[in-house]
Amino acid sequence: MVERLSTGITGLDELLDGGIPRGSSVLVVGGPGTGKSIFSMQYIIEGAKQFNEAGVFVTLESNPKNIYWNMSSFNWDIRKFQDAKMINIYRMKLGYNADPKRVEERIDEELNVISSLVKEIKAKRLVIDSTTALGIWFDKALLRAMLFRFVDYLKELGCTTILTSEVSNAKTQLSAFGVEEFVTDGIISLFFTPPYRSIFVRKMRGTAHDQHIHPFEITARKGIYVKPKETVLWEAIK
Ligand SMILES: Nc1ncnc2c1ncn2[C@@H]1O[C@H](COP(=O)(O)OP(=O)(O)OP(=O)(O)O)[C@@H](O)[C@H]1O
Ligand SMILES: [Mg+2]
Repeated sequence: MVERLSTGITGLDELLDGGIPRGSSVLVVGGPGTGKSIFSMQYIIEGAKQFNEAGVFVTLESNPKNIYWNMSSFNWDIRKFQDAKMINIYRMKLGYNADPKRVEERIDEELNVISSLVKEIKAKRLVIDSTTALGIWFDKALLRAMLFRFVDYLKELGCTTILTSEVSNAKTQLSAFGVEEFVTDGIISLFFTPPYRSIFVRKMRGTAHDQHIHPFEITARKGIYVKPKETVLWEAIK
């Protein structure tokens, strides 16, 4: 029996036969503003809140202040969990370097930092938001090798990992660079066809997952919540 980890996102576990297989890595894919960062933070916060599981949130955004700002409308007490050593937030900064060899070294250095952050609080959950920023530094062949190494390394840490990927069209694109989907165990796509948001579990290894697209909402009180009983047609999504 595969041990499953609850996503902490209302309604989603039901689509995943109980949750994400523990230790796997899942790509959360969507266009701008589809809810990737909120999804990721909710995963970490609810892990701490409901299941007493520590989590590390790695951001590759330019300014970590944006995280607090972006999440401020939710009642998540991010700082309280940080103080309690239940959550580590880390900004991964590769810096500009034209030499791919040097960028590779920098990624290894950053992976070591992430590893110590995970060990420090015995994290069970890990988020990398977003992996798209990694792609700026490599051509496709190198990127594929890098991502393999990256995800492989993260697997060693024993966490269940969410990686986000920004695409311009989540209906046709499985990831930003077309390689991430091969190195992860699961793919969850997020759509925003105004005014409707929806979610689709595209793949989840070892899981008899739901095959339909379902609407979800974002509210200040509940964060993201999925409506597993309602479905959306593929044709209704843009
Ligand atoms: N309190 C709230 N209630 C309802 N909707 C909200 C609330 N806070 C944020 N949102 C919605 O969530 C969107 C942002 O979500 P999020 O930052 O997770 O998106 P993202 O996919 O990470 O985007 P990006 O590609 O820019 O990183 C906002 O554009 C807004 O539509
Ligand atoms: Mg984001």
